[in-house]
Amino acid sequence: MLESDKEQISRVFLNLIKNSIESINQKAQNNNNFSKKIAIELTEDDSHIEVTLEDNGVGFGELKNNIKDILNPYFTTKKNGTGLGLSIVNKIINDHNGKIDFMPIQNGAKINITFLK
Ligand SMILES: Nc1ncnc2c1ncn2[C@@H]1O[C@H](COP(=O)(O)OP(=O)(O)O)[C@@H](O)[C@H]1O
Ligand SMILES: [Mg+2]
Repeated sequence: MLESDKEQISRVFLNLIKNSIESINQKAQNNNNFSKKIAIELTEDDSHIEVTLEDNGVGFGELKNNIKDILNPYFTTKKNGTGLGLSIVNKIINDHNGKIDFMPIQNGAKINITFLK
């Protein structure tokens, strides 16, 4: 169990899953037989709760060298993006004693969130 603001935490996952959906849809545009995947894993021990989200979308590409930039307000690589999603996500996670990390993977993106219980 995590003591949290339920509405805010839902907002976090809504924003992250929305990003994954947009990323896999973008990849699917130029790949006919592409099979879209989003995996969400929850683990915990005595002191931490960990959530890992993985998608097989376009990935972070060139961004991976300055990955923390994506947390900045108004940072977006999308035509109609606002760049606000992840800055809100980051603020909420910090308010809940947590941290977020972005990991480039072979085919897509991996995001890890750790909360201190
Ligand atoms: N799952 C993901 N896969 C690839 N890139 C991502 C993913 N999530 C976020 N990003 C990158 O981070 C940027 C900022 O995301 P966000 O703050 O949600 O704003 P927006 O979605 O409006 O662009 C995105 O434009 C994209 O470049
Ligand atoms: Mg977004």
